[in-house]
Amino acid sequence: MSQTTKPTPAGALTGSMRDFRVPGGADLLARVDGFYRWQDQRRQHGLWPFSRATDFGPRTEVTAADDRGIVMQGVNFASQDYLSLSSHPAIRETALEALDRYGVHSAGSPALVGNTTHSVALEKKIAEFLDMPEVVLYPTGWAAGYGVIRGLVRSADHIVMDALSHTCLQEGANAATRNIYQFRHLDLEHCRRWLSTIRAKDTENGIMVVTEGLFSMDSDTPDLAAMQALCHEFKATLMVDVAHDLGALGADGRGHIGVQKMLGKVDVVMGSFSKTFASNGGFVAVRNRAIKEYLRFYSPTTTFSNALSPMQAAVILKAFEIVESAEGAKLRDEMMANVLSLRSQLAAAGLETYGDPSAIVCVKMGSEGLARLVSRRLPEMGLLANLVEFPAVPKGQARFRMQVMAKHSPQNIADAVSIVSRARAEAEVELAELGAPAVAPERVAA
Ligand SMILES: Cc1ncc(COP(=O)(O)O)c(C=O)c1O
Repeated sequence: MSQTTKPTPAGALTGSMRDFRVPGGADLLARVDGFYRWQDQRRQHGLWPFSRATDFGPRTEVTAADDRGIVMQGVNFASQDYLSLSSHPAIRETALEALDRYGVHSAGSPALVGNTTHSVALEKKIAEFLDMPEVVLYPTGWAAGYGVIRGLVRSADHIVMDALSHTCLQEGANAATRNIYQFRHLDLEHCRRWLSTIRAKDTENGIMVVTEGLFSMDSDTPDLAAMQALCHEFKATLMVDVAHDLGALGADGRGHIGVQKMLGKVDVVMGSFSKTFASNGGFVAVRNRAIKEYLRFYSPTTTFSNALSPMQAAVILKAFEIVESAEGAKLRDEMMANVLSLRSQLAAAGLETYGDPSAIVCVKMGSEGLARLVSRRLPEMGLLANLVEFPAVPKGQARFRMQVMAKHSPQNIADAVSIVSRARAEAEVELAELGAPAVAPERVAA
């Protein structure tokens, strides 16, 4: 049984963050209290598995404290470091050399003097890697996703986006225009219908179609060639976010754009360095210098934000070198062998996973209540895995997102499967004893 002995109140097993997104009241600061009360009730019962801090970075085995200061030790499937590059000796050495040469700070936007020899070389390297002529760097992947949409789309334009697109893309779209049309996840026919409806009325303004190379909660992928063809047919621009697959998937690490033989053929490619390239940061790759220069001066999250630090630029450049090398191919093979082993061991334990094999292995739980009771037990039993619940995924489809690294050992995988399996069995018993509270959100007064 879980070490938490206090009975679990139903209010800690129901409700969601969505309930507090639009708090009411004239006092902007006081009206956030409701969220804190709900969150803290979860926290007090060990059901708030977020905001953890590790002692030594994203290793396969970690010591991590939760936000009550309670420390766990165990296997780490919660960090994003798919090829285990953040602990690679050459990355560390590169960071130290960059520190010696440039110091710690870029001290300026890329539109001013925030660039360094390494960041300029990095732009060239990514352009060559993706067979796209030009690249713009951003301080984070989030800034790149938000900034590319905000930079190119204006209020009279239209955005047609996969309904499961990442929050940076949704927020960028909301900031750019009110003309947003979501199509059902991966449903090209639905996408086509929106495009044809828009073009029947408006041939004057632009349309951006937004999707991802690998969806981060479902581990699935659109038909990129078909989407680009649709965009040509309706004079729309395709924008693909490759945060999760670039570097980590495909024999040569070009992700689904490479696997689908679409290198150099997608209108706009945007990505993040935070999953595979051992650093914060993001980029946008485009088809000519005019678009690059426009983004540099009209995409607010790069124009008016400080550039990547020199150490980050140097580390990412080195990470691309490794990704492209024979060692990179070996790391991808090791990662994929771990993914396949994890998925098959989970299946053997009766646990279902979402989507196709990738570093993202999401394990189905179902109700938020059950998933939260499992989340309490995982660290107690020695496993870190991220709980994902509504509204990040649909209500009643809570899951644990396990993110695989090349350097996870067979023992790490076996331990993780055994822990998820035992935690789920125990949580089912506790949930039944509690009388299985409703999944429906329960509002806590603000
Ligand atoms: C699909 C997708 N796009 C963009 C981002 C943002 O990237 P970053 O963490 O580098 O800001 C993420 C990461 O959460 C992501 O999953």
